[in-house]
Amino acid sequence: PRRVRVQHLREAKDAGRRLTMLTAYDAPTARIFDEAGVDMLLVGDSIGDNMLGHDSTIPVTMDELVPAVRAVSRASRRALVVADLPFGSYEASPQQAHAAAVRMLKEGGANAVKIEGGRRIAAHVELLSGAGIPVVGHLGLTPQAENMLGGKRVQGRGADAADALLADAVALAEAGAVAIVLEMIPEQLAQRVTDRLAIPTIGIGAGNACDGQVLVWLDMAGMGDWSPRFAKQFGAVGAALSQATSDYVDAVRSGTFPGPEHTFTS
Ligand code: KIV
Ligand code: NA
Repeated sequence: PRRVRVQHLREAKDAGRRLTMLTAYDAPTARIFDEAGVDMLLVGDSIGDNMLGHDSTIPVTMDELVPAVRAVSRASRRALVVADLPFGSYEASPQQAHAAAVRMLKEGGANAVKIEGGRRIAAHVELLSGAGIPVVGHLGLTPQAENMLGGKRVQGRGADAADALLADAVALAEAGAVAIVLEMIPEQLAQRVTDRLAIPTIGIGAGNACDGQVLVWLDMAGMGDWSPRFAKQFGAVGAALSQATSDYVDAVRSGTFPGPEHTFTS
């Protein structure tokens, strides 16, 4: 299959084809998602709270994320691979962002990077775009700013907050962003941003008016013990894995595994 390219994102928006994005953090899941036709695989810093046992994305480092990006890039053939730049790796300057993004492409094999923030990182987006690094923006609830935002709450409510978010989105688009993730904002605001921009919006907890949707795969598949209200569980992977594991434990304890078909003889 032909690799999804950044040009296809805008084509999809123009054609009214909804885009699909899912997080992935390793090769076996990336392969499944890629073969199922997911357009974009996001190696998110949500690896922190979903895979590495942290309770937020704040502690995630480049050295933790780069190998995950490499695994996802190797395992996917069609999907556009987007690597999050983790907290602390890009905010200080466009140059800092460039150094981190270059690692994601050179060492990780990513096709694009995602960074959180609006007007304050427009210069970063412009430098990266000019250097040949596609950037996906991220507005609304930006989890790396949870200490400022006061937890995971809906953003962009009220006229002033909505206007500010729209201005941020326009600034990112003008700086060259190829798409923007909108997280936990009212559907009406997501609609406004989507109508205003030529680049696609990818929603998560932002209603059904966006050009595409993204979910953390564990939330999508029913893996893990908690998922946010805006996520829908399309499967029960956690329950299936739990059942398989207790069946295995029982089979070993009772002596029914391994059987003759699993056994070598001399
Ligand atoms: O890290 C992540 O999973 C994300 C998505 C929620 C958009 O940034
Ligand atoms: Na993220």
